[in-house]
Parts: sequence; C-alpha cells; structure tokens
Amino acid sequence: MYKMSAKPLIEANEIRKRVATLAREIADVYDYDILLSALTGAYMFTADLSRELAVAQGEKAYQKTIAFIKASSYGNSTTSSGQLQVRGLEKIDIKGKKILMVDDIADTGTTLLGLVNLLKESGAQEVRTCVLLNKQERREVEITADFVGFEIANEFVVGYGLDYAENYRSLPEIWTLQETD
Ligand code: IMP
Ligand code: MG
Repeated sequence: MYKMSAKPLIEANEIRKRVATLAREIADVYDYDILLSALTGAYMFTADLSRELAVAQGEKAYQKTIAFIKASSYGNSTTSSGQLQVRGLEKIDIKGKKILMVDDIADTGTTLLGLVNLLKESGAQEVRTCVLLNKQERREVEITADFVGFEIANEFVVGYGLDYAENYRSLPEIWTLQETD
C-alpha cells in the first residue's frame, strides 16, 4: 500500500514559477521547430511549458509546432534495461527538423535515451531534451537532459501529470508517495 506525503514536495506556485523560468532558458538558446511531448505523463507540463514558451519566444512562437507521441517503457525485473515502445511517431515529419523532446521525468534515463536515438534515426537535424523532474541518483544509462525543471531525490512522485498505476495525475502539485506496510 502507498500513501501520499503530508504536504506536497513541490507546490503548484513553485512549479508555475520554475516552468516560466525554464521556458525563458529554452527560448534563449534553442530555436526548435517541433515541441514533441511524451504522453501521458508530460501532458500537464507540456500545456504549461508551451504557453510560457510562447510568451518567451514572441513572434517566433507562431511557427512552432507541437506534437505528441505515446512512450511506454516495459522494464524487465531481471535486467536494468527497459524495452521502449513508441506510438504515433510515424505521423510526424521529423526529417531535418530541430526537436525539443519533452518528458515528465528522467529516472533510469532509458525512455529519454531511447527517444533521442529514435528521433536521430528518424532524421532529426537536432534533438534537445527537457524534463520537469530529474532523478540523477537512479540513472542507469548515459543521458543528460538539456533542460531540467527540478532535481529530486530518489523518491517516487505523483501529481502534475505523473501517475502511480494511472492515478493521481490531475493533482496540481507534486507529491511523494510512501510505501506503508
Ligand atoms: P525512465 O526509467 O527514465 O525510463 O523513466 C520512464 C518513465 O517512468 C517516466 O517517463 C515516468 O513515466 C515513469 N516514472 C519514473 N519515475 C517516476 C516517478 O517517480 N513517478 C511517476 N512516474 C515515474
Ligand atoms: Mg508513467
């Protein structure tokens, strides 16, 4: 059984402020063509980030496109490498494009690295990555996200799009989930 922490790990107003700053950090250095978002976990972050990016980009925002893929990682209990399944990429014209790949969290890094490799294989001109949360301690493959919202400790978190067994996604804050006996 799991229970939520008594108070949020990251409050909604903290997220709002950081997302706005993050958008300016991105807009300052990366003039991408496509914001590509990984469903489902990144849906709330993507909605907020894309609005802040539009503010930060000014008229450049008019030409940006946004697209979604569904990424699922099936971990295997006996090996550390998860099998990544990606759906929806075939409908997006990646070739020669500069991609901003957005995901909810980099944990082992398997998903993010798999996505970057796939986009490069698909002919992307450039791929830079952005995650709301980074759990560096859990990294199993070599990948460093270019843009990170918050560094967090090795704890399981939910809310602001992130789930545990598809629950908790719609909470406006990020909460830690603790195991109870
Ligand atoms: P990876 O291990 O970096 O490949 O993480 C893959 C996916 O696991 C992420 O995109 C999330 O959907 C999920 N995940 C990892 N850590 C957490 C967490 O603390 N809470 C909720 N989902 C998580
Ligand atoms: Mg998930």
